[in-house]
Amino acid sequence: MQERLEEIRTHSLESIESASSEEDLENIRVRVLGRKGELTTVLKAIGKLSAEERPKIGQLANKLKKKIEASINARKEALKGVHISGQGPTPDGSFKATTDFFIPGLDPTLPGRQRRLGRLHPITQVMDEICSVFERMGFTVAHGPEVELDFYNFEALNIPPDHPARDMQDTFYIDDKVLLRTHTSPVQIHAMERHRPPMRVIAPGKVYRCDSDITHTPMFHQVEGLMVDRDVSFAGLKGVLTAFVQQIFDPDTLVRFRPSFFPFTEPSAEIDIQCVICKGKGCRICSHTGWLEVLGAGMVHPEVFRHVGYDTEEFSGFAFGLGVERIAMLRFGIDDIRLFYDNDLRFLHQF
Ligand code: FA5
Repeated sequence: MQERLEEIRTHSLESIESASSEEDLENIRVRVLGRKGELTTVLKAIGKLSAEERPKIGQLANKLKKKIEASINARKEALKGVHISGQGPTPDGSFKATTDFFIPGLDPTLPGRQRRLGRLHPITQVMDEICSVFERMGFTVAHGPEVELDFYNFEALNIPPDHPARDMQDTFYIDDKVLLRTHTSPVQIHAMERHRPPMRVIAPGKVYRCDSDITHTPMFHQVEGLMVDRDVSFAGLKGVLTAFVQQIFDPDTLVRFRPSFFPFTEPSAEIDIQCVICKGKGCRICSHTGWLEVLGAGMVHPEVFRHVGYDTEEFSGFAFGLGVERIAMLRFGIDDIRLFYDNDLRFLHQF
């Protein structure tokens, strides 16, 4: 009788495990535990056993009955899924009309899983916006290498070796002649070597300096601008940059040009905008001056034109350069530049 119990255990547990519907389970229950079921028959026959065997077999049969009942209930829970009518996938991957198919374990009342869409990094967004403002003013986009020759980064921009202006930018050198560009100004030289005036180009891209604090990162982005033609004037520069600032910030943002120095422009200026946070009243962000510096600019130095073979009597030009992170920080009210590069999704998802 013990063998018979073993047989019932094996085949009933197997068929419970492979049951694919509640109906299957009910059939198994009737077949094994019903009034005339396999296990019920064994239980009924226990009375005929010897007094010695009776308690042992009785105990085994009752244990098995509990086990089978528990397995049926567990399988019933696992099968709590849904029947879906309509189009169903076939094993070969194609879809065909089926009337009914079953997905075990699927609870259609659970909320759907949200798919998070990726998006452009805030710096890319701001850079695209800056470029499109200048493109609308007739500038075209030019690119140059990030690993640059000393000649393009410094010499052709009127910064000869040992010139003190080299100290203005902490440079990552690769060897004596090769470096990571410290600004996008070398793209001016590449563009002027390739094209004759008139030209209007902007050069967006990554630049590198050995510099790191809450307003400086070792890698950051600049957008360079260059316009060369006959009769290009400082007044034209003021017009272009004022229009740019007023499109990127508020249309009534005040702009001021402050005398400054860059070896590759003469005269040179730094451009401040009225603080976008306090509107000129003075706050922590603008160091209580009411103004924020956003651009460097000036008229292209004749020495730069000589390096690319432009006639300084015939042509004049202006150039400007801005830090994209700076603009993004002001646009979004961010006071630590490093947040852009921490890759913290909680921060990035806000843009
Ligand atoms: C220049 O790099 C000049 N090439 C700009 C220029 C172009 C002037 C053409 C005249 C004509 P400057 O070193 O000031 O200038 O850098 C420009 C901007 O880059 C700064 O105003 C600042 O916003 C940003 N910047 C500079 N260093 C960093 C840094 N480490 N991290 C983030 N932004 C920086």
